[in-house]
Amino acid sequence: MCGIMGYVGRQEAAPIIIDGLRRLEYRGYDSAGVAIHDGTGLAVTKAEGKLARLAAVLEEHPLAGTFGIGHTRWATHGVPSDRNAHPHTDPGGEIVVVHNGIIENFLVLKEALAAEGAEFASETDTEVLAHLIAHEYDGDLLEAVRRAVGKAQGAYALVAMAKAEPGRMVAVRMISPLVIGIGDGEMFLASDVPAILHHTRDIVVVDNGEMVDITPQGWRIETLAGVAVERDTLEINWDAAQAERGGYPHFMLKEIFEQPQAATETLSGRLLDDGSVELEDVHFPDGFVEALDKIWIAACGTALHAGHVGKEVFEHLLRIPTEAAFAHELRYRNPLIQGVTLTVAISQSGETADTLAAAGLAKRLDSRLLALTNVVGSTLSREADDILYTRAGPEIAVASTKAYLTMLLGEYLLALKIGRDRGVIPPALDEALVRGLRSLPTKIEEALKTEEEVVAVAGHFVGHEDVYFIGRGLDHAVAMEGSLKMKEISYIHSEAMPAGELKHGTLALVTEGTPVVVVLTQRDLYDKTVSAIQEVKARGAFVIAVAYEDDTEVLKHADEALRIPRVHDLLSPVLSIVPLQLLAYHVAAARGHDIDQPRNLAKSVTVE
Ligand code: F6R
Repeated sequence: MCGIMGYVGRQEAAPIIIDGLRRLEYRGYDSAGVAIHDGTGLAVTKAEGKLARLAAVLEEHPLAGTFGIGHTRWATHGVPSDRNAHPHTDPGGEIVVVHNGIIENFLVLKEALAAEGAEFASETDTEVLAHLIAHEYDGDLLEAVRRAVGKAQGAYALVAMAKAEPGRMVAVRMISPLVIGIGDGEMFLASDVPAILHHTRDIVVVDNGEMVDITPQGWRIETLAGVAVERDTLEINWDAAQAERGGYPHFMLKEIFEQPQAATETLSGRLLDDGSVELEDVHFPDGFVEALDKIWIAACGTALHAGHVGKEVFEHLLRIPTEAAFAHELRYRNPLIQGVTLTVAISQSGETADTLAAAGLAKRLDSRLLALTNVVGSTLSREADDILYTRAGPEIAVASTKAYLTMLLGEYLLALKIGRDRGVIPPALDEALVRGLRSLPTKIEEALKTEEEVVAVAGHFVGHEDVYFIGRGLDHAVAMEGSLKMKEISYIHSEAMPAGELKHGTLALVTEGTPVVVVLTQRDLYDKTVSAIQEVKARGAFVIAVAYEDDTEVLKHADEALRIPRVHDLLSPVLSIVPLQLLAYHVAAARGHDIDQPRNLAKSVTVE
């Protein structure tokens, strides 16, 4: 996830672009840059770090010109640096490009260009696009971009300018968002509405698979196949703060709804058409996977809850003993990390002090260290032998949602990779999982449609001070995360436990009306979990189940059901967590809490 912004008109472009990027910084902020066309030539300025650094550089060395594009980056290919910051040009400086998202086949394209003698100044996939467009350019930017993107695969949005065509911007949307802003003799392009709302409220939303041709006088949309598209203009009446949240009342809700796209990006380029799994920064030495004795997972909070899912998945698919441990316990536990081990340290920020300490300990004990993290260039990623980036994009709300969901996807990819190398996953299961993983972005969209039912169910929680989440196996792992979400933003005391554990003590706390959330997806454990529902129902509990849409039994036992699409049971956590995130959100909203910044908490816990 990155922010892109373009302007063509009569005003100086650089200050308008910087102002727009400032409002898109929530999409990424590890480096930024602008390219300005002054009518005769293109000039590019970029800087590692937050946008303020770029603004300071531009203050000292202003770029004049009334056409330009800019970018604030969230690194996916190549560490944050001046070199990797956008915009990128071809070697001749004829074409300049900013881009958000991932070009899946960039390595293949890069190698083909390199074989023809092309030299690259950065490690990014974006630079490959600049080369490709320049290669195709014969005086018409729109046609050159069309031919170039015909060769690229992935989920992205891009904006390009040509030195020879001042005042023209061409853009493409393939999944990553893009909007056009219509001014008076000036036009804007941006990843999101807030970037342009101070200049115009007349917006045109670009759809997937569409190209945009823009000059100061107007805009034109056509499909990649060249068919003209008619599109109405929208008038946006959000205020500025609301606009930064994309019209959502809170970042948490926005991030919950970004999950289909985040999942697309996590999987992008990693599950290849020939069925292979390509994890670009995971390079196990020869023989390592075959000899692996044990997997350790070290993490805290939500990241550890993702780790509990990982433990179940690794043990089921790989038959390798796996322990998911609190990083803060592991670091002082004198753990038996011995033999050939892989430690998977999971952290959204990659900066959690306890997780870094546990990872450091594992390395000292000769474990191989794999970082499953969202932040490119984070301390954890720098210390790890292998890295699996979740690519969820910046997560602003303290309560983690899309980072968790993409951590789960990272674990499935890792399990498939290791399982194949060890030859332990039966082909039919492997195929079912690959099919299931590919279906998840669409199914997450479906799961988000539970919101209406969730709002109704949330009313049952608002007046309570104790709630319980139960499940078995993978459902228990999800129950833990649902419970954490609930307590951290609603401030309702919430406990999660395996469904079979209730009768060993906690059942004493269940009285008339006590809300109990049951995650009920695992076929093998279904009847056992139903017994636990009956135990709490007999004590007056109000039971809300998360179940598959085609489960015709569930309402014989539970009071309410939140439905998710059917998927392979091993993949169900990716869907069953969605209504639970929404439930926590709507209960907290009904209780009037500061959802994005709950009391006493911080997004990144960099102290012990
Ligand atoms: C809860 C939450 C925290 C974090 C934990 C670890 O919603 O976000 O529990 O998961 O503090 O943070 P990271 O993943 O950055 O190591």
